[in-house]
Amino acid sequence: MSMYRKLLVLLSAGACLYTLTVGAQETVRLGTPVTEEQLEGFDLIAEPDGSGFPSGSGTARQGQAVYEARCAACHALDGSGNSGATVLVGGDMQSEGPPLKTVGSFWPHASTVFDFIRRAMPADAPKSLSNIEVYQVTAYVLYLNELVDLDAVINAETLNAIVMPNADGFIDQSHLH
Ligand code: HEC
Repeated sequence: MSMYRKLLVLLSAGACLYTLTVGAQETVRLGTPVTEEQLEGFDLIAEPDGSGFPSGSGTARQGQAVYEARCAACHALDGSGNSGATVLVGGDMQSEGPPLKTVGSFWPHASTVFDFIRRAMPADAPKSLSNIEVYQVTAYVLYLNELVDLDAVINAETLNAIVMPNADGFIDQSHLH
């Protein structure tokens, strides 16, 4: 078969597939449209510039009860964790051996602590905390890392004013994308 014919065969096969797919879309209607309310449940990105944060605030003192009830089973009362992945406190990125990466030693932005907890924790019941509880327990995790005082009020503004120990430990390559 000549190159030209091969190309023709390929093209017509492609056209057939296209027709089939379009046809299928027209007749088989799967699923229902997503509502605005459902979308809100996914619209949870809280950024270092303060955008995406809900209203509210909390202190570490308030967060202690939330932490002990909802987090300590996996992360231990003092944040030392019950496995390598659940250590929340300590570590040093400048250590000689492989560094222990925790919220305190590794995370460059405090906003991520709020963002991650609101979205993914507690691991056995994600998104089950209220926004206020997330503020409170975020404050407590930062307190365990000695980054805020027990009674410091944590909200979108004060949270993003915290300079994390490893804030300068990353190279910004966003201009490459
Ligand atoms: C059922 C066990 C469990 C519970 C309860 C739980 N976590 Fe976690 N948590 C994990 C695991 C496992 C990871 C590691 C996940 C991963 O690496 O993807 C994790 C990771 C984290 C991290 C990121 C740590 C890091 O440095 O990567 C934070 C912060 C965190 N949890 C906070 C909390 C808070 C706050 C609560 C309570 C509201 C909580 N967790 C409750 C199991 C749990």
